[in-house]
Amino acid sequence: MNKTILITGGAGFIGSHVVRLFVTKYPDYKIINLDALTYAGNLENLKDIDHLGNYNFVKGDIRDTEFINSLFEKYQFDGVVHLAAESHVDRSIANPLEFIQTNIVGTMNLLNSARNIWKDNMEGKRFYHISTDEVYGSLGKEGMFVETTPYDPRSPYSASKASSDHLVRAYFHTYKLPVVISNCSNNYGPNHFPEKLIPLAINNIKNSKPIPIYGKGENVRDWLFVKDHASAIDRIYHAGRNGETYNIGGNNEWTNIDLIHKLCEVMDSKLNRPAGTSAKLITYVKDRAGHDLRYAIDSTKLQTELGWEPSLQFEEGIEKTVDWYLANQEWMDHIMTGDYEKYYDDQYVKR
Ligand code: NAD
Ligand code: DAU
Repeated sequence: MNKTILITGGAGFIGSHVVRLFVTKYPDYKIINLDALTYAGNLENLKDIDHLGNYNFVKGDIRDTEFINSLFEKYQFDGVVHLAAESHVDRSIANPLEFIQTNIVGTMNLLNSARNIWKDNMEGKRFYHISTDEVYGSLGKEGMFVETTPYDPRSPYSASKASSDHLVRAYFHTYKLPVVISNCSNNYGPNHFPEKLIPLAINNIKNSKPIPIYGKGENVRDWLFVKDHASAIDRIYHAGRNGETYNIGGNNEWTNIDLIHKLCEVMDSKLNRPAGTSAKLITYVKDRAGHDLRYAIDSTKLQTELGWEPSLQFEEGIEKTVDWYLANQEWMDHIMTGDYEKYYDDQYVKR
């Protein structure tokens, strides 16, 4: 094994796609997936690859300084791809403190441990921090976020992510830690936890339950298929320049209401229901506090410097996503019943 790489948050939505890509594409890498298995962590996401010899799962919490230090001492990682986070804006509004502890303190622990084991030789090492477009704030009808857009986070979630980005940059400037950061727009695709708009709507439509739309549904998001985010992460991890930031986006803006109408059409067709059936479930509800109006990412730098581009058009991506959810009802059932949380015990403790 020529490299040992730590991926944090690998049992989550995006992390599981990144783990799968790295484990299968780089058989010479030893991949350690570190995840605390919060409500958002689901090892069933990785069932298909968890028998592979270069994949290892470690249950642990990035907030635990001593544990993180000992993990870095034990494995002497060559690289870190850091995705572990509290990721849901609505939860950050209800309970901000958890976001500060995981997203800021947890990131600090990883930075410190990486610095400790790399301080005498940073050659070939890499600390890759995965961030979000939400750090740039909220756009009006015009314009796009570029890498130099000033930070203007407006929710406890985005403020905690912005804070962690600043710490990562501070370690580059102060200690020459070889860091790279990317800021991505909204992801969608298989394994998305059903608290987020698209999987929540798919599940509710399937069960003929109301689809909650915050406010007037006029907020705009730029959607990227999760496997395209994973391929961008692969590219940036291997070819990005130290100290740089890369924006990742789908160039695919939708108002929430248009997106949900599109999803309703796809669901009606896949479920053989008369056109218009699902749209009747749309229900306007109280708006999210401080709801950012619009995000849009300009990913020209990533495309021109590193040659990345998304592989899927949205029409194809949303069909694939719906197909995946309809074919994997058991995955959703296990989340709804809480059974997914037993997977760790069955797989790693009882054996
Ligand atoms: P997710 O909530 O699905 O997964 C997060 C994972 O982190 C879970 O497996 C969880 O168990 C783990 N985790 C949480 N707290 C932890 C802790 N203290 N210690 C160890 N593990 C912990 O999130 P996601 O949507 O896959 O997002 C992954 C990363 O990508 C996050 O950093 C997020 O900010 C960023 N991001 C997400 C999106 C998106 O659209 N989902 C877009 C851009 C950036
Ligand atoms: O932009 C990247 C960010 O995208 C990531 O950093 C976050 O981790 C990720 O959760 C996502 O944040 P959003 O808040 O944009 O995603 P969410 O799916 O929660 O909401 C998408 C839009 O839909 C947003 O405008 C709020 C709205 N919404 C959401 C839910 C859950 C609804 O109208 N109804 C809902 O029930």
